[in-house]
Amino acid sequence: MSEIETQLTDGVLTVTLNRPDKKNAITQAMYEALAEATERARTDPAVRVLLFKGQGDSFSAGNDIGDFIAQGSAAPDAQALDMPVFRFLKALADCDRPVVAAVQGRAVGIGLTLLLHCDLVVAAEDALLSAPFVNLALAPEAASSLLLPAVLGHQRAFELFALGQPIDGRTALAWGLVNRAVPAAEVEATAVDMARQLAGRAPNSLRKTKALMRDAERLWAIMQSEGHAFGSQMRSPEAMEAFRAFTQKRAPKFD
Ligand code: COA
Repeated sequence: MSEIETQLTDGVLTVTLNRPDKKNAITQAMYEALAEATERARTDPAVRVLLFKGQGDSFSAGNDIGDFIAQGSAAPDAQALDMPVFRFLKALADCDRPVVAAVQGRAVGIGLTLLLHCDLVVAAEDALLSAPFVNLALAPEAASSLLLPAVLGHQRAFELFALGQPIDGRTALAWGLVNRAVPAAEVEATAVDMARQLAGRAPNSLRKTKALMRDAERLWAIMQSEGHAFGSQMRSPEAMEAFRAFTQKRAPKFD
């Protein structure tokens, strides 16, 4: 079984993160496959809607921390922007089809910031969404430094980034981060139903509506500038300490 599965049904391209034993933490190989699927959503006329979901009890625990360690140990001139995650982020910024997400359990890091590029998000009432970039001594990514404060306001966004505590699906609904908060057992069916409704709407009208609401070039420019801060933090001693602390199941100690 592939760790990223895709299925096109009735105009809805469903992309499933399928690494449940690791809470769908995303590896470099998975980002490549996510990028391919997201690019396909824009180029394949049969795709009307893109739907992201996660297999198992979580949507995604974010970037694979083992990969962070490998990348952080790479030569200092290794270009963060060459990483597959950036191909995926560019594809997300450029995606002109509506994007829907079904979120249960944990949505951490890019598991949350990906949602800022979705047009409709259905979350479980008890889902836990977090963006613990500072806990990992990193920096915001995926244009979340722009989009999260735009949705939540500065203070709530700063708290999510800097203190890293999760908010549940009900709070995410109250804060405007998701469209629906439903019992966990209803998340997928609700998201599929909304995706199918979108797939039946006039495709050019939908595309133009989405294009008028977002500035893809600006989003990509911000993703790149965030990438420089993220890349230099990823190679920093404080981030290495945070990554090792996670793998050793202990609290990090920052000097
Ligand atoms: N990268 C690599 N492995 C991860 C991972 C990640 N981001 N998130 C979870 N895993 C692995 C765990 O190491 C564990 O592996 P093991 O069974 O071999 O020990 C397995 O997935 C299950 O995770 P576990 O921590 O036991 O589950 P939990 O329910 O107690 O906690 C999380 C779930 C998501 C809260 C916790 O795993 C976590 O905090 N993960 C890191 C999230 C993160 O910081 N992501 C990066 C954001 S930029």
